[in-house]
Amino acid sequence: MNAADKEACYRAIGEEILSVVAGEANVTARMASAACLLSQAFPHFYWTGFYNVDPAKKNELVVGPYQGTLGCLRIPFGTGVCGTAAATKKTQIVEDVHAFANHIACDAKSASEIVVPVFDKARALIAVLDVDATEKAAFDETDAKHLEALMKAVFSV
Ligand code: SME
Repeated sequence: MNAADKEACYRAIGEEILSVVAGEANVTARMASAACLLSQAFPHFYWTGFYNVDPAKKNELVVGPYQGTLGCLRIPFGTGVCGTAAATKKTQIVEDVHAFANHIACDAKSASEIVVPVFDKARALIAVLDVDATEKAAFDETDAKHLEALMKAVFSV
């Protein structure tokens, strides 16, 4: 997908997600809808979903709504790409997950990924959005910009 197509696709699907979740306060419903529509919009999104901050443990993620093959259930903060995004509260773009020291291989087919932190309106970290692709280097700053803006619009309002 070239940069212009990617931009256009993010704009269209962003609007659709916001219109679907408008008026729905339940966070699980908002996450499930976002994961579903994102994964349908981008054919190369092989695994698309959320790892939630476990309120009982604080420094551990537990799997939330997703589309794709079976994901790991729990990821400690600081472990793997998701745990690094949670610990640093910064988006992680990994071009080759097999070269990422700390990577957790839930599915050996995943080759690259982007993980975006998700905050509530009080700016507390509630989850991370994880998107994996089977091709290397599938994600770049365009994905980061749009996914960060979308997560803000869906979960920080
Ligand atoms: N690859 C992730 C683990 C989650 S799954 O791929 C669904 C990571 O290293 O954080």
